[in-house]
Amino acid sequence: MNRRPALSLLILLFCLILLAACADTPAGTPTTTAPSPAGEGLAITSPDGRLETRFWLDEAGAPYYQVTRDGQPVIQPSRMGFVLADRPLNSGFAISDSQTSSFDDTWEQPWGEVQFIRNQYNELRVDLQESGAEPRQMTIVFRLYDDGLGFRYEWPEQPHLAAFEIMDESTEFVLSGDHQAWWIPAYLDNRYEFLYKQTSLSSLNRPTFRAMHTPMTMATADGLFLTIHEASLVDFASMTLAVTGDTTLKADLVPWSDGVLVRASAPHRSPWRTIQIADSAAGLLTSHLILNLNEPNRLADISWTRPGKYIGIWWGMHLDTYTWGSGPQHGATTANTQAYMDFAARYGFDGVLVEGWNVGWDGDWFRNGENFQFTTPYDDFDIAAVTAYGRELGVALIGHHETGAAVLNYEAQLPQAFAYYQDLGVHLVKTGYVGAGQSIKRIDEATGEVVREWHHGQFMVRHYQYVAELAAEYQIMLDIHEPIKDTGLRRTYPNMMTREGARGMEYNAWSADGGNPPEHETILPFTRMMAGPMDFTPGIFDLLFAEARPGNRVNTTLAKQLALYVVLYSPWQMAADLPANYEGQPAFQFILDVPVDWRDTQVLHAQIGDYVTYVRQDRGSDDWYLGSVTDEEARVLEAPLTFLTPGVTYVAEIYADDPAGDWQTNPLALTITQMLVDSETLLTLRLAAGGGQAIRFRPATPAELAP
Ligand code: NOJ
Repeated sequence: MNRRPALSLLILLFCLILLAACADTPAGTPTTTAPSPAGEGLAITSPDGRLETRFWLDEAGAPYYQVTRDGQPVIQPSRMGFVLADRPLNSGFAISDSQTSSFDDTWEQPWGEVQFIRNQYNELRVDLQESGAEPRQMTIVFRLYDDGLGFRYEWPEQPHLAAFEIMDESTEFVLSGDHQAWWIPAYLDNRYEFLYKQTSLSSLNRPTFRAMHTPMTMATADGLFLTIHEASLVDFASMTLAVTGDTTLKADLVPWSDGVLVRASAPHRSPWRTIQIADSAAGLLTSHLILNLNEPNRLADISWTRPGKYIGIWWGMHLDTYTWGSGPQHGATTANTQAYMDFAARYGFDGVLVEGWNVGWDGDWFRNGENFQFTTPYDDFDIAAVTAYGRELGVALIGHHETGAAVLNYEAQLPQAFAYYQDLGVHLVKTGYVGAGQSIKRIDEATGEVVREWHHGQFMVRHYQYVAELAAEYQIMLDIHEPIKDTGLRRTYPNMMTREGARGMEYNAWSADGGNPPEHETILPFTRMMAGPMDFTPGIFDLLFAEARPGNRVNTTLAKQLALYVVLYSPWQMAADLPANYEGQPAFQFILDVPVDWRDTQVLHAQIGDYVTYVRQDRGSDDWYLGSVTDEEARVLEAPLTFLTPGVTYVAEIYADDPAGDWQTNPLALTITQMLVDSETLLTLRLAAGGGQAIRFRPATPAELAP
């Protein structure tokens, strides 16, 4: 036998194995070895005993964790730790101390999708100490809830760790199988504004994108639903998820322009890495783990943070019938704003958003954000007259700060800009950071050079935080567009009301890909909305607007537009269409009635990407509201009304797709009917293709009960 080919084959095989082993290994991060803990290490269970998290160190002192549910693996043995600029901080540890504790408290949201939230968890704190010269310390804190796990890293004050730079996070999420995943890519120009894709984990084709944003949701073959995200993102880089193996995800922190991921000095701590776990898709939607992992309210007086409904000089710009910039079609004129305020007062809206009011919009504003001036209105916008007019009517001006992502220009003007608005009685400001990819200008302190940052790196995390804290000093609430993703900070800073951070309604006005397909709003609740409220801006009644933008339309029925007010939670909800399109429309009544602050939220049906039905109880009355939406398939869903108070008869005011309705061929066909119902009624919801249904349940009056 000729032994040469056999030897070459052997060498080739060896190289291939070596290559495969190295391919997924970022510098300094050891590969996962999947040690078997078999009862070793430290463990806690969830309050209901079903989840268990186990922590241990392998022979090299590298930290690992795993999660099981009813004894079955959810997260397989997964690496933890970091790589710092001078040396890794992910092995060579010994456990110097550990503590377990339990917590159970119920807290009240000042506003929100439920009034009271139970915060019940078991905690494990593990203090790690390196061996060898100049040893460093790191603490890992695990909090295990019935609905999932949060863990964070803490760096206490210590002799051998002062200022430090994180170059890699070793945290892995080794999943128990090849789950279905709903995800959007990170590190692309449009920030978070993508259509969600559904693929198996193993089919994620790494060369086409670097990582995925969180929240990222998965369904397992045996019926579990998981969402990976983070809570309390403060002075750190956002975590995205890189695919480093068929079923392995790894933290990929959005870097500064020089490649450093996080700059910190001890004491410091990371955000919570979160894994929400439910045995139904509906179970994910009522998890409050993200809010529970945030700190309680830090603002002294929050009486001025309140939800509301608004209209705006806004959709007209997206349809090209108005302009943001000055000229004959300028939308933000005194007269136009006063007309919008008249409409708002007539129908009880709290505010009118006015975009394009300040100098800076003329020309290519998204490339010239440095021209924006936040205290200089255009000549045809008399802001003092407009706010005085609104005051008389009980309608607030909602402020607008588009920055064009020129953050330095914005920060230089911020205190004056907020003071200016506060003096005028403006208490809600919509901010905007239009800018593509890694384009945010920063002057590097060390070199004096201009560098460019991502929307989601530590530089911008700090910026968004600064704006929120400063706004609070001026009693200003925020609605942030092109935001940092929500990680539940509204609990700590209740003036962080709502934000965009996904493809909203505006994409239907102008996007070249035909807008948001009907399934979009059936995926958002399980992905983007797992982070928190969204200013989606529903309520378009003129769905086709063929004259304004012949190539575009809204890809839903009219009833689905109404249902979105219940499905997509936001404490500030917009009636986004032009006022003229609401006049004389019976369906407008639902937008006028629907609350924006809820006592309770329940989910009746949930199938990711197919359909979802929410019911929510008004915080201010005994009314309940139902919103149900479907994708491009028509559906018949049975809704038991067991959430209604037993023994009380309600009038159900039903806004339904017409039997002949269809988002493509007959989107406007809607029927409004009323019927008496109670908690024993089983209601049949018929949703057209691309359709929805919206219902108000109010206690019947004696006259309505009379036979
Ligand atoms: C993008 C925002 O999402 C949109 O609502 C706003 O009208 C434009 N930027 C201009 O600020």
